Amino acid sequence: MGSLGESDGVETKALADIDQVVEVTFRYPVRFTHGLLRPENTILRDVVEADGRARLLFVIDEGVAEAHPAMVDDVTAYMEAHADVLELPAPPLVVPGGEAIKNQSGPVDEIRAAIDVHGVDRHSYVVVIGGGAVLDAAGYAAATAHRGVRLIRVPTTVLSQDDSAVGVKNGINAFGKKNFVGSFAPPHAVLNDFDLLLSLSDRDWRSGISEAVKVALLKDAAFFTWLERHAVDLRERSLPAMAWLVHRSAELHLTHIATSGDPFELGSSRPLDFGHWAAHKLEQLSHHELRHGEAVAIGIALDSTYSYLTGSLAHADWLRIVELFEKVGLPIWTQDMATPGTGGRPAVLAGLEEFREHLGGRLTVMLLERIGRGFEVHELDQAVLLEASDLLRRRTEDGGEQERWESTTALAR
Ligand SMILES: NC(=O)c1ccc[n+]([C@@H]2O[C@H](COP(=O)([O-])OP(=O)(O)OC[C@H]3O[C@@H](n4cnc5c(N)ncnc54)[C@H](O)[C@@H]3O)[C@@H](O)[C@H]2O)c1
Ligand SMILES: [Zn+2]
Repeated sequence: MGSLGESDGVETKALADIDQVVEVTFRYPVRFTHGLLRPENTILRDVVEADGRARLLFVIDEGVAEAHPAMVDDVTAYMEAHADVLELPAPPLVVPGGEAIKNQSGPVDEIRAAIDVHGVDRHSYVVVIGGGAVLDAAGYAAATAHRGVRLIRVPTTVLSQDDSAVGVKNGINAFGKKNFVGSFAPPHAVLNDFDLLLSLSDRDWRSGISEAVKVALLKDAAFFTWLERHAVDLRERSLPAMAWLVHRSAELHLTHIATSGDPFELGSSRPLDFGHWAAHKLEQLSHHELRHGEAVAIGIALDSTYSYLTGSLAHADWLRIVELFEKVGLPIWTQDMATPGTGGRPAVLAGLEEFREHLGGRLTVMLLERIGRGFEVHELDQAVLLEASDLLRRRTEDGGEQERWESTTALAR
């Protein structure tokens, strides 16, 4: 209870403190489809809430536009077919694809300018079609124009369909750090079109698998076993297998966001960032040559190996994890792990402090107890991390011979 002194004849009176609770519920549809832009597909039309006609500004990833040369015309034809409720104020804006869009502020400004020029208000929509990087940048532009216009995400990579698009984060890189500028803003809707995945390069097809492995390792041992069984189908680009992976991974990510009690990451615990402290640093050290998903595979391999070396994870479980990455064709180590930093120690280790700073509060890193279950620690032993990195380097360089030899001799002893 605060109190004010007497002044100007106002009666001295204690003024009660106010502790107000504001509760907000977010509800957003996540849909799975084929041929999203075929005029007879009404999924996009159906998620738009219009009092009359709604204005939709399209932003398309350049890589997607190049791989799908008919897409701009398809958007126009779709909007014409649904002109009774949808309005296209301008031709789709094509923006740079990949991490390049997040390493500059120009495209975000351009999207904000288009929102302004074309009268996209808070009852209009930005529809962004692209990979995780373009979704992050366009999402940031949409979240900050008019303090937030509605965003419909159409993710076009495995990684964005199985992880990033269903989440509530967006942003771009700044000061050499990943996602330094951004905001938390749930989307209006997420529309996954599996057909769009067919044009991905092999690298981008595979790299999103690591986020599914991540969430399986933390939350669903049966899903991990499913991934092992379908590893070859996934590597060989079976669309039905990938569709199943995307659906389960998106579902697990969404359940976490909805039920963890911390959708906007106010606490220090960040389970879905398993393996990410190293991943974010490796992306930066590789000058974004490594895809996010590839860096995540390496980060998960590192923290799983650390879990194994410190005795919390059984050797058999550790082996299943590295073998799964190897089978689907994802890296478990990179030369960037050895890039020297200050004091001659590998620069990747600075990722721990940068991770802590980005999250705020106490360093909290997820390790594994077994497949399907993680636990949190607040510090990591750097010597063991280097040992873990070395084990993965040897396995990468000699195709696993050394480790197989070590485990056979250990068994023989
Ligand atoms: N917001 C979040 O919660 C969150 C979560 C995970 C990752 N991310 C971010 O997502 C980004 C990585 O996203 P990504 O893995 O989707 O890759 P990406 O967006 O970098 O795209 C990779 C490449 O594929 C091209 N591309 C995209 N879709 C295509 C298609 N259908 N056909 C052909 N080419 C296509 C792009 O133009 C680009 O060149 C990183 O910046 C990462 O930080 C964000
Ligand atoms: Zn990630």
